Amino acid sequence: MTDLTIYSLKDFPALRRAGRTAAEVLDYITPFVKPGVTTEYLDDLMDAFIIKQGARTACRGYHGYPKCTCISPNHVICHGIPSADKILKAGDIINIDVTVIVNGWYGDTSRMFYVGKPSIKARRLVENTYHTMMAGIQEAAPGKTTGDIGAVMEEVANREGFSTVHDYCGHGCGRVFHGAPNILNYGTRGKGIKLIPGLVFTVEPMVNTGSGDTLTLQDGWTTVTRDKGLSAQFEHMIGITETGYEIFTLSPKGYTFPPYKD
Ligand code: MF3
Ligand code: CO
Ligand code: CO
Repeated sequence: MTDLTIYSLKDFPALRRAGRTAAEVLDYITPFVKPGVTTEYLDDLMDAFIIKQGARTACRGYHGYPKCTCISPNHVICHGIPSADKILKAGDIINIDVTVIVNGWYGDTSRMFYVGKPSIKARRLVENTYHTMMAGIQEAAPGKTTGDIGAVMEEVANREGFSTVHDYCGHGCGRVFHGAPNILNYGTRGKGIKLIPGLVFTVEPMVNTGSGDTLTLQDGWTTVTRDKGLSAQFEHMIGITETGYEIFTLSPKGYTFPPYKD
């Protein structure tokens, strides 16, 4: 088993800076998400913004990943590759997932966006997914377990008839992109790893309108729902404190779930 990294309170300012930088990228791109733009255009804008902030993307080159961010529309669960061929249209829902490196520290966060007006079902899914993530985060405290987080997330998603994806999960983050512990989108209360102050990880539930089954396309990245149902995801990076948790990737603009208003 991979060893858990316990960060010290002295590391928290660097974690806050990396997390905030990633969140700022999502704040920045928000007004550009409109019908008619390509996902590659959005990726190029974020690429330039990240460099301007003195940061760099963790994604390009990661196991050969070709782009700056992941952009996953509609039935794409995760790891959608931005493309000049993918033109957004009214009614689409998309996830944009940004991971930056700032002075060697990783900041990883994602949000959903509406392109034009979403269907009632899409909106229900997106709002449920946000509440699923936040319910998971609110479990996080010393003495609780990773199973507590997963269990509550699956409950909140299932309550509205949705499914969580079991094939992908949250992960330890900080000095590395992906480390222990895994934060599954399901679980059993009291099981898993016991949370202690200084643990840093992401909570990033993927929630589907249909089944949670996944399929990865020939490109080796794009992961879609097997039944072609809609999928949504939100992701925050958090640290366990003496009393609970701190979210490192809160939006400086106060954005939570869409529609985003200034
Ligand atoms: N940001 C994703 C996560 O939440 C990972 C993307 S890996 C990439 O863990 F290579 F596809 F960018
Ligand atoms: Co992540
Ligand atoms: Co991510």
